Amino acid sequence: MPQAATGSAFDEAERAAALIRKRTALRPDIGIVLGTGLGGFADRLANQIAIPYAEIPHFPQPTVEGHAGRLVLGSFADTPLAVMQGRVHAYEGCTPGQVIFPIRVLARLGIKTLVVTNAAGGIRTDLASGQLVLIADHINFTGTHPLTGPNDPRLGERFFDMSDAYSRRLRQLAHRAAAAEGITLPEGVYLGLSGPSFETPAEIRAFRTLGADLVGMSTVHEVIAARHLGLEVLGFSSVTNMAAGVLDEPINHAEVLEIGERVQQTLTRVLAALVPLLADPPDR
Ligand code: HPA
Repeated sequence: MPQAATGSAFDEAERAAALIRKRTALRPDIGIVLGTGLGGFADRLANQIAIPYAEIPHFPQPTVEGHAGRLVLGSFADTPLAVMQGRVHAYEGCTPGQVIFPIRVLARLGIKTLVVTNAAGGIRTDLASGQLVLIADHINFTGTHPLTGPNDPRLGERFFDMSDAYSRRLRQLAHRAAAAEGITLPEGVYLGLSGPSFETPAEIRAFRTLGADLVGMSTVHEVIAARHLGLEVLGFSSVTNMAAGVLDEPINHAEVLEIGERVQQTLTRVLAALVPLLADPPDR
């Protein structure tokens, strides 16, 4: 088996984690990635410290509007959390390795559970813009895989299972949290693309045939990396628009941001109800 070189992803993640450990005594149990327009939950953390990604070694910098680019560490309902306000995407010119780097850092910090969120286009016609959807599974249609190349066994195994990538156990807890808030939470399959263009109507028809309910430009690489690391994963999509051709309307980023703001409030309520369940699942 090839040896992990010095300057390996593991060493770089450890260096980034070491800087973060120096800034705070908090050791997170749960990591949350807040996607486009969804950064608000981080403001709810108690005793928080925020570290700009620019100050963390090797951490990639978001370049798009709606992504603050800060790691916020703090507690919610006495549960220590690490919350990423914004992420990078392949379309920004980042390699898949850079896209997943923060997930490896969070794992070095000790998280066992990862909650990912994103903005997505709705393919399934019973979904509506402004709705929050729980990701049941994904289709990696980016054309790349973040773990090609030598495997570092300190990060995870060469071959690993993806059949419960979006944990059934955690999804049950998410449904319980949403129900407690009176929020409808349908499930859907997320298809991840590299972007940055939105899709054509013909592509969306094809993706519907493939079994996709949601389409977006993030998440799949991070979730693959999280499963490689052995993390238990949960994912939410904010439907900011119906996908191309579903309605006879063009799609634009301003709309994605505007609707994202609205869904952010729903997401924040679900996360607030969910975190205590994740920390202390009643049926475990
Ligand atoms: N397509 C891809 N990504 C997206 C969309 C979309 O329609 N909406 C928000 N992110």
